[in-house]
Order: sequence, then structure tokens, then C-alpha cells
Amino acid sequence: MKILIVGTGYVGTTTGLIFCKIGHQVTGLDLDERKINALQAGKLYFYEPGLEDLLTKHVSAQNIRFTTDTEKAVKENDVIFICVGTPLGPQGKADLTFVKNVAGTIGRYMNHYKVIVTKSTVPVGTAEKVTNWIKENQPSPIPFDVVSNPEFLREGSALYDALNPDRIVIGASSDRARAVMRELYKDFQCPIIETNPQASEMIKYAANSFLAMKISFINELARVCDALGINVNDISTGIGLDHRIGPHFLRAGMGFGGSCFPKDVNALIQTSKETGRPLSILEKVVQVNDEQQLYFMKKIRQVLGGNLENKTIAVLGLAFKANTDDTRESPSLILIEKLRGEQAAVQVHDPVVKSVGFMQFSTVEETVKGADAVILCTDWDDYKTLDWAALKQLMKQPIIFDGRNMLNKTKIEELGFRYLGVANH
Ligand code: UDX
Repeated sequence: MKILIVGTGYVGTTTGLIFCKIGHQVTGLDLDERKINALQAGKLYFYEPGLEDLLTKHVSAQNIRFTTDTEKAVKENDVIFICVGTPLGPQGKADLTFVKNVAGTIGRYMNHYKVIVTKSTVPVGTAEKVTNWIKENQPSPIPFDVVSNPEFLREGSALYDALNPDRIVIGASSDRARAVMRELYKDFQCPIIETNPQASEMIKYAANSFLAMKISFINELARVCDALGINVNDISTGIGLDHRIGPHFLRAGMGFGGSCFPKDVNALIQTSKETGRPLSILEKVVQVNDEQQLYFMKKIRQVLGGNLENKTIAVLGLAFKANTDDTRESPSLILIEKLRGEQAAVQVHDPVVKSVGFMQFSTVEETVKGADAVILCTDWDDYKTLDWAALKQLMKQPIIFDGRNMLNKTKIEELGFRYLGVANH
């Protein structure tokens, strides 16, 4: 099948490469020439482990090509995946401007029956809107179908997730489109959920919101555990082994960030309000998360004598989680802003993220030099194996705030550090 991927971000690029891998011919289309030139040269312009090798291989084999020529790309392909961004708009709603533009262009250049698939996370009812936007732009009527097929891949493990999905969701409103989608995914072994486009769109929001809810639950519980001197990690293990609960997304930490959870939870809250049945549980999820992102502020202030002025704080990790260079809605950046607001001198480090405009160092040693405290904000593996005995010699005061509960408290304390985790007692 000839597949067009519109929007070559991490979702689009990963999706395109997965289809190449299973034998389809793929074109990647984007308006941004720099991205297209990089990808066509086999270079990934964002950080995603394992993806560049696959890209280089399939570009050389000419299984995938990248272009900015919209008209030709639309005309030549049978299945078109819309993978453009749907950022959070002004009223907490997903902004569909990019999706609308793409739909209009598809309508304008469509020359035969096509299946148009929304991969981007889009609010319930978008498939219908896309259908209308395409129709409005068609010079003369040509049949087509719009299908919702949401993506569940995580940044940092996008390739693994795309190759090993837990399920594939297909929201189609015609047998013809359903048959095309079945054929496309025939090599995947996982369950395929066939439903209508609205339910498919809702599944994506419900999944992300549920996971966010698990995180906020464990984070709020961590505060209670902290007050009671209980280790929250033991609680996560203890409840996670109940198969009805499951072990995932129960790691207490600095709160969730990234390009998906905050945006999607807010968008679903907005959708629910529009129905007159607000999902108040999700409003609480957001509130708990906002508080959690500042979990250490009070502690840092207390431990450092009530005032952060002229204190030097070393922040390790800027990415919203490990294995990505994405800092969108990163708890780390939110904390840094607050620390700076209280006149602390903040020195930052990240193994991958560069130039965020703070005082940033390329080594952890330089970053912790003269620091009154270190805050571990991102769960990079690099930070698990640091030589803390040596780093201690460089610091002004041996204090560690571990926002990801990733260090061994006993060992760190044996080195003479004061250690504060997230209810990591
Ligand atoms: C998420 C969804 O997992 C994915 O299915 C969807 O397609 C896009 O959104 P992603 O944003 O890449 O993926 O990150 P994810 O690994 O889910 O983590 C989200 C946030 O939750 C991160 O800030 C992470 O640090 C935090 N988190 C995750 C926790 O604080 N505790 C956990 O136990 C798990």
C-alpha cells in the first residue's frame, strides 16, 4: 500500500518507519524544509533511541522518502495519516488549526478514493470535522473515508511501542475503510479494537487521563506517606502486584509532564464540561500534579534555612523524563523558574537537552560545584551511577533532593549526605 504521513514529528516519523519495516511504500510530508532535508539525508532532528538506524536503512533502500510537495504527495498515495501537532489552545481545548489545514489540502488535491487517518490526538468529533473540511475543499465530489487510529507510543521508547502495541484501535465508519486498515495492520499480533471514530478518539483521551490519574494518586498518597514516615515505593509495589491495579505508572515523583498528559487531560476536562458533565476527578488530577511539581520547594526552603537567596542549587535533568530531549511541561523547568523567582542561583545539567537559557554545564561535576543542594529532576540512567563520594567533595553542602526516588537512600546517607526523596523513607 502507498502511505503518506503528513507531519514528520516523532509520531509521524515513527509511524512511517514502522510501515516501511512491514513492507509498505511510505512518503513523509512536512511544511518544514529543514526537517524534510534532514530526514531525507537519514538524520533524525530529534532524540529518539534506535530510530535513526531504521531511518538511514529505509531511506537508503528508498522505502521511505521525504518531501514538501503536498500536491504530488496527496495524489500519489492511497492512505494518508494525519500526524500533525494538536497543541493546547486558549480555552484548554486542542487547537485543530494544523489538522484543518491538512484536511483542506487533502480535499483540494484528492484524485481518487483515499482513506484519511487521524493519528494525532484529536477531540471527540474531529473525524466528522475532518470529513467536512475535506468535502468543502474538493473541487468535485470524490469518495473517501476518515478513520481514527490513535497512537499510544511514548517518547523515548517510540520504536519499541510502535512495534509492540498492546492494542490497535480502529475507528471507522465504513466497511471499505475498515478493510483497508485491517490489511495495513495484518502483521501485528495484538488485539485490534474496531469501533466508530468517536469512541476511538475517546479511547486515546481516556487512556492518557487514566494513566495521569494513577500518577496523581500515587503522588498525593506519597505526601501522606511522607508525613507518616512510610516508604511510598513499597506501597507502589504492594498495590501494583494486584493484577487489577497493575504495576505501571505508580512511580511517585515530580509530577507528570510532556507534550501529551497535561494537554490531553485538560482537553478531556474541556470536552466533559461541554457535555454538561464535568470530569471533576480530572480537575483534581491536574491540581495534584501542579502541587507535586513544586513538591521540593517547601522542603528546600526549610532545609536551607528558610530563604533561598544567594543559595546555589544544582538541578540534574531538564527533560520531562529520561530518554528524550523534550522539555515541554517539564517539572524540572517549572521548579527552576520557582527557584530563580526566590533568588537562588541555579546551575543545570542534562545529558541530552541543550541551551535552555539557564546557567548550564556540560558535566555533572561542574554543575554541582559549590552547590548548597542537588535536585535530581529527570530519571536519566546516567544519574543512577554517579560517583557521589567524589561529587560530595565539590559541593558546599552535601544535600540531595531526589525527585525520582532513583538513588539508594541508605548508600547515599552512608556517604554523609542528607537525602530527601519523594516519601522514600
Ligand atoms: C504518554 C503516553 O504514555 C503515550 O501512550 C501517549 O501516546 C503519549 O503520552 P509520554 O508523554 O511520552 O507518553 O510519556 P510517559 O512515559 O507516559 O510519561 C509521562 C509523564 O509521567 C512523564 O513526566 C513521566 O516522568 C511521568 N511518570 C510516568 C511518573 O511520574 N510516574 C510514573 O509511574 C510514570
